[in-house]
Amino acid sequence: MVTPENRDEHAGWKLHAAERALQLVESGMAVGLGSGSTATLWIKLLGERVREGRLKIRAIASSADSERLGRTYGIPFVSFEECRTLDLTVDGADEIAPDLALIKGGGGKLLREKIVASASKRFVIVADASKQVEKLGRFPLPVEVIPMAVPLVMDPLRELGFTPTLRVNRDGSRYVTDEGNLILDCSGLFLENPDAIAAKLDSMVGVVEHGLFLGMADLALIAGEEQVIERTI
Ligand code: A5P
Repeated sequence: MVTPENRDEHAGWKLHAAERALQLVESGMAVGLGSGSTATLWIKLLGERVREGRLKIRAIASSADSERLGRTYGIPFVSFEECRTLDLTVDGADEIAPDLALIKGGGGKLLREKIVASASKRFVIVADASKQVEKLGRFPLPVEVIPMAVPLVMDPLRELGFTPTLRVNRDGSRYVTDEGNLILDCSGLFLENPDAIAAKLDSMVGVVEHGLFLGMADLALIAGEEQVIERTI
């Protein structure tokens, strides 16, 4: 039985999804690099191809970690000043609903992940089968908040039915995002209507971004025991 608790045992499955996603990349593309363990496997495969001279691409990363990794392989990075549209972005997800609605941000990179995804012609998710859910919400929804506004958004989040918890590092210090914000992990609510929740979060002053990626994914490559399944809307 695949559950979120044992998903880390599925590194092999993640690699299969990453390998399939590599087949989507062509020379000349501007590519968005996601974040997290599955996207990292894909960046490594992509980086090897670039280093060997088999692929010529330009990239924008969704996190400082992913950019750092890409640079070790010699992947050339550009900014949105130089490249407004990406041909393809490949990223992981924490939960994937049947309509390809997603929860992302378990790794804390949701803001740049959403920016990169929104600038992409094609947004492809790579994941192991444990990420599939019927309804979003078992995984706590990450909400990125301007530090001074954290006390102000706690009550509105509770009114929506969430239990918000400030994300901390292993040493107990506050987790700070690449953009200097804090994250509230919002648990306790299965999302019957993700669009309505997203609209409420979008309207909360102090909330910079949230981990609901709705209507954004074009394709999910989901790896299980035997095969990689392609899911589209
Ligand atoms: C990073 O902020 C996240 O959105 C990741 O994409 C997500 O947590 C999936 O990560 P894994 O591939 O490590 O499960």
